[in-house]
Amino acid sequence: MAAPILQTAEPAAEEKAVTAELGFSEPGAAPYGNFPCYSRFHPPEQRLRLLPPALLQRLFPPGGPDPRPLLGLDVGCNSGELSTALYRHLLSRDEGEICPVSPGDLRFLCCDIDPALVDRAEKDCPFPAAMSFVALDIMDPQAREPLLSSFLNRFGRSAFDIVFCMSVTMWIHLNHGDSGLLAFLAHLASLGRYLLVEPQPWKCYRAAARRLRKLGRHHFDHFHSLAIRGDMADRIIQILTNDHGMELVCCFGSTNWARSLLLFKASQPSEPPPSL
Ligand SMILES: C[S@@+](CC[C@H](N)C(=O)[O-])C[C@H]1O[C@@H](n2cnc3c(N)ncnc32)[C@H](O)[C@@H]1O
Repeated sequence: MAAPILQTAEPAAEEKAVTAELGFSEPGAAPYGNFPCYSRFHPPEQRLRLLPPALLQRLFPPGGPDPRPLLGLDVGCNSGELSTALYRHLLSRDEGEICPVSPGDLRFLCCDIDPALVDRAEKDCPFPAAMSFVALDIMDPQAREPLLSSFLNRFGRSAFDIVFCMSVTMWIHLNHGDSGLLAFLAHLASLGRYLLVEPQPWKCYRAAARRLRKLGRHHFDHFHSLAIRGDMADRIIQILTNDHGMELVCCFGSTNWARSLLLFKASQPSEPPPSL
């Protein structure tokens, strides 16, 4: 059963989040959210502590029918801190677990639109055999199709087991408008079996537009015309479940930035949802 969406963070925490995400760097220089020190202001641990370490074992039980290695895609990986922490976290085990996923059983492809961030991620990655980083604008079908297929083909697969989209939806929405967000979500829904999304709340959009206006540097053309607005987590849940047949498996609560971590599963009518 899907847990209700929690909105536990205080407004002050959210305001701090907005300030951190948009204020620490010159936003005009990071129009895609491609902040150079993002993880210092939005630490991976805050989000990962909400995810059960044994998540993969529960979603893909050892000895089950799922092929190995499990394949993960991290969209908008920035300089790779969250991707690496996620990889490490998913290989750790809960106390009492006897069959963790082993390092050889998990491969990640991580992409970001900013090649300089991708270079840094690649250079700093402690798991180079298991994690690949590529510069990719995920909104560019001509670039993404060959790139994603070539990774999947190496493992004889046609889809990822799990796709991560953490703090990226707002940047796609602001830069590509409602139709871009809808196309992005449709694409995410088609990429894999599970999808973990951390949407930015609407407050962040307003703050982004306000700050950029003040700076007079960069203006998101689409901000005023966005019809998809309000409770962004709920809007994204509605789009993924109603339009793309995904099932909301779990809301892992919200970070102290009031961002929910939402896990969806692509519809496979014969399978019951996992118990998490
Ligand atoms: C706010 S950061 C989030 C980084 C990381 N996912 C995290 O949560 O720590 C958003 C990232 O999405 C990337 N991004 C934005 N638009 C993108 C696109 N069209 N294709 C690929 N990456 C994109 C940005 O470059 C930026 O690194």
